[in-house]
Amino acid sequence: MAKFPRFLIITSGIGAVVGGSVILKDFIVGNGQKLPETVRADGKVCIVTGSNTGIGKETAMELARRGCKVYMACRDIEKCRKARAEIISDTLNQHVHCRKCDLADFESVRQFVTEFKTKESKLDILINNGGIMRCPRKLTKQGIEMQLGVNHMGHFLLTNLLLDTLTSSAPSRIVNVSSIAHTRGTINFEDLNSEKSYDPGAAYNQSKLANVLFTKELAERLQGTGVIVNAVHPGIVKTELGRHMGLENSIMASLFVKPLLSFFLKSPVQGALTSIYVALAPSLENKTGKYFSDCKEKDPSEQAMDPIVAKRLWATSEKWTRLYNSDSSSPSLVAAM
Ligand SMILES: *[C@@H]1O[C@H](CO)[C@@H](O)[C@H](O)[C@H]1NC(C)=O
Ligand SMILES: *[C@@H]1O[C@H](CO)[C@@H](O)[C@H](O)[C@H]1NC(C)=O
Repeated sequence: MAKFPRFLIITSGIGAVVGGSVILKDFIVGNGQKLPETVRADGKVCIVTGSNTGIGKETAMELARRGCKVYMACRDIEKCRKARAEIISDTLNQHVHCRKCDLADFESVRQFVTEFKTKESKLDILINNGGIMRCPRKLTKQGIEMQLGVNHMGHFLLTNLLLDTLTSSAPSRIVNVSSIAHTRGTINFEDLNSEKSYDPGAAYNQSKLANVLFTKELAERLQGTGVIVNAVHPGIVKTELGRHMGLENSIMASLFVKPLLSFFLKSPVQGALTSIYVALAPSLENKTGKYFSDCKEKDPSEQAMDPIVAKRLWATSEKWTRLYNSDSSSPSLVAAM
């Protein structure tokens, strides 16, 4: 030992720590494998909600890289334009478009769909990615608690209004971005809109459970149409960390906790891997109503598989979004289903 050069001991020590950490990180974060570059999507038309930042932006970027025509559906059109410019310069794919779609306003969702349909006659991939997390109690334009409104109801309406186009474009896919938080959620039918009491975490978890429940119910309704729908958990991603843990304002947190934790968290690029995999992997062409994390099929929570809860939530969502009886001129073709 005495003869062993000290620097060698030190460097191999560092090597062991780094190597060990990488293995540990893979173990904790998971190592969703990237879908091979050879899987192309040239000419496919897709919509990604909430795509001006984070996982949504990386998802749009990767779809563009693989040749898709991408519609970025965003609330903030300025931020969307900036992200679009980045995506185009990175991928050299000119077919990337920004469209206004505020999921907290059913009118905006309807307008987005009407406009989309005047431009495109097909839709191959819909990625319901947009979402908000743990905000103070606010209401959507139509008076729905914000997290349930955006994460679930807005996407419910969007998806249903696009079903005719998705069906006529079959085989086509819907990817719903949920979260591991769904496993802690319960659907509180007594106070779905959190009027009697509001807990930001509970409302978030409820909205994410709603995503998984709807994925299952929708998959059942779409049996035999060639439209498949699956839910994914992207992992806990760095951009969401502060909001996820309520750390945003603490100096201690930004100095110590975040750098430490961020080592174990995913980058938005890694966060997008599972969405891309579920959107494009040829091996999943017959998979529907399932839940994926780290590019692998997983079991969702027991609540998320309860068909009675799913049907009750569906019925409520139809009413709250006025799916069949909107004053708006855009016809709701799903009414025929
Ligand atoms: C929501 O889910 C998260 C993640 O699973 C959990 O840590 C948290 O305690 C849950 N919040 C509530 C109020 O259930
Ligand atoms: C999907 O189903 C079709 C028809 O049953 C079958 O031909 C095809 O091989 C299946 N694809 C996969 C990846 O299992």
